[in-house]
Amino acid sequence: IGHTRWATHGKPEEKNAHPHKSHHIALVHNGIIENYKELKFKLISEGFIFTSDTDTEVIAHLIEYYYTNDLHNAVSLSIKELRGSWALCVISEKEPEKIIIARKDSPLIIGIGDKEHFIASDIPAVLNYTRKFIFLEEGDIAEIKKENREIYTEGGKKITHPIHQIDWNPVMAERGGYRHFMEKEIHEQPRSITDTIRGRIDLDRGEVYFEELENKYSWDKFKHIIISACGTSWHGALIGKLYMEKFAKIPVSADIASELRYRDIPSSNDTLFISVSQSGETADTIAGLRIAKSMRIPTLSICNVLGSTIARESDSVIYTHAGPEIGVASTKAFTSQIAILFLLSIYIGKKRGVLPHQITEEYLSEFVKVPDYVKQILDKNEEIENIAKNFKMYKNFLYLGRGFNYPSALEGALKLKEISYIHAEGYPAGEMKHGPIALLDKHFPVFLIAPKSKTYEKIIGNAHEIKARDGIIFSVVTKNDNDIKYISDYSFEIPPSKEEFSIFSITITTQLFAYHIARILGLDVDQPRNLAKSVTVE
Ligand code: M6R
Repeated sequence: IGHTRWATHGKPEEKNAHPHKSHHIALVHNGIIENYKELKFKLISEGFIFTSDTDTEVIAHLIEYYYTNDLHNAVSLSIKELRGSWALCVISEKEPEKIIIARKDSPLIIGIGDKEHFIASDIPAVLNYTRKFIFLEEGDIAEIKKENREIYTEGGKKITHPIHQIDWNPVMAERGGYRHFMEKEIHEQPRSITDTIRGRIDLDRGEVYFEELENKYSWDKFKHIIISACGTSWHGALIGKLYMEKFAKIPVSADIASELRYRDIPSSNDTLFISVSQSGETADTIAGLRIAKSMRIPTLSICNVLGSTIARESDSVIYTHAGPEIGVASTKAFTSQIAILFLLSIYIGKKRGVLPHQITEEYLSEFVKVPDYVKQILDKNEEIENIAKNFKMYKNFLYLGRGFNYPSALEGALKLKEISYIHAEGYPAGEMKHGPIALLDKHFPVFLIAPKSKTYEKIIGNAHEIKARDGIIFSVVTKNDNDIKYISDYSFEIPPSKEEFSIFSITITTQLFAYHIARILGLDVDQPRNLAKSVTVE
């Protein structure tokens, strides 16, 4: 058993590498154990000695704690005590003929060979050895031997899952069966957002937790926040500004790092400086952070890549846990950033004592539905693809939105231009009359972001103005909203949600729309011309 993993707890060092061991037990684990601290405390008091910084090590000791000559039983008893997600492979020197595997909220597959079995998180890992697979279901636990396997449900009932024959070619396999990494990463978002928020919300108490921030800052002291970032991460920063101002009641400036680094920032120790970066290696964002540090401004970063420069150099870091992002166009990293920025705004609002508990409860209970909203959009992928076919020949695009959906207009336009090379501009819809309206005619389509919101009536006005100039409208509207649909040439429905969360459904729609146009045009979606994944030079 072995595990090449994306670090979540502890640095990528040898002591934190899997397998983790406890006496005769060894295991590998994909996922996150939320209650590992309390379990670790209990196991230490039972005399177990921990040698790593990981959450995983508690599972090994817990299994050893329950072990009485039956590995399967010890694993069953142990996972009843775990909270979080896991795909587990467990072995014992005392029972060398078997591997016990279990899953919850992390994928796990069994590859069936000739008198042999292969266990992996996903198909590509073992596709060179077999084409026959069983997919474990939520809560399953299985005992795997060379020639046979027994699978049990969470309730202990023996079951048989169908065997699937997979006929992917090697290139498709690397991308998990998707045509491009970008497509794969778009479709991963229900999972990546779940990973981002896991362990950070307690719905029963209406609380948000960021262990990494505890006792790090005097929240009362802050009178201003600067959020600094580039590209898509800057669009995240713009949304973060709206969340912070609404829930933390604090003025925020969302700065493009390449601009910020050359302007005068008033020196002040009542400012919090937040850097947002997927890679943690963007040269301008690093420069902005270093300026803030040289001015002794407290710093915090939101990064995806563990141990990156920005993560290391900030006073503290919140990791987004979105998993590796390979496509140059940022997709899942963005939705994870805005999920963190929302939670952080609630956290700061609570710390500052400005956010009524009732509001926190109301928003958190809807926020946890976001992965499901995202899934609902992905389920309608084909509908977006069919709409995209009608737009592949245009040379220009205007993306319009207001409030939370102004940053989504900017992000939608950026996605389209970077991978399809179609010129696109994102604009606040209220600014249309102040210039861009001059561009509109029957050759100029408008992507109108128009979910139900406090500015909805104004957007209807914009839609009429566009049609009066023969502009073509593709609108994204709230389900069953026929008013804007009626004026539009094409429209797409998203699930009803609070205005603050429609950004997630809209973002998936704009990502898929851009993806399908670029793919239909036959362009290199994952490696667009002139672009690099991390812009490490100025
Ligand atoms: O790694 P970072 O988040 O710091 O990267 C910032 C930008 O370079 C990045 O978001 C870029 O705009 C992407 N190509 C957008 O899809």
